Amino acid sequence: MATPAVADIVRLGPVIPVLAFDSAEQGEHVSRALHAGGVKVLEITLRTAAGLEAIERASKIAPDIVVGVGTITKPEHCALAKKAGAQFGVSPGLTREMHDAAVEAGLPLLPGVMTPSDIIAALELGYEIVKFFPAVPAGGIAMLQAFHGPFPGLRFCPTGGITPESAPNFLALPNVVCVGGSWLTPKAAVAAQDWAEVTRLARAASELSRPAR
Ligand code: 3PG
Repeated sequence: MATPAVADIVRLGPVIPVLAFDSAEQGEHVSRALHAGGVKVLEITLRTAAGLEAIERASKIAPDIVVGVGTITKPEHCALAKKAGAQFGVSPGLTREMHDAAVEAGLPLLPGVMTPSDIIAALELGYEIVKFFPAVPAGGIAMLQAFHGPFPGLRFCPTGGITPESAPNFLALPNVVCVGGSWLTPKAAVAAQDWAEVTRLARAASELSRPAR
């Protein structure tokens, strides 16, 4: 499958689950459970040693699954993740070196921003969609509303501190295209291998409405 652009990826799901796995096998179970619940886009982070293999396995689950790599904090992560099959990357912040590495690897990037200066730097590099991280600690809905004035064309995927209860309020904002969060994979459900619970949470997240934009 050709690598989709970030603009197309973020429109696939109102919620992008942010995932960290203890093992590649656990990652495969969770990814299957999420996909069964209608979640087509996954962000598998490099926070654990299982990340790259989990990306590789999840990418093969279904033809319509889009697996990205999360927690890119070093330029070299881009090529490694691309090699493992990642179709996009998500980073908590952005540097020129990281941008160059993503371009070089052919990995579409959703870079993180938190301040107006971060946003201006991302705009200068050509980004039109960014992650707002950490969304709730950094000001949440009020901050996104404030960003809309000076940066009317920019779209955000807020992530960090968002809950099933607050997600609809974020998705209702005109400058939000999707949200990220870890609530689809509660630690207790994953530890108990309760894949039905993961599918149930995924289904509820997939069904959240998002105004067309
Ligand atoms: C993270 O940092 O783990 C992601 O931003 C997800 O945050 P959350 O656990 O608050 O959803």
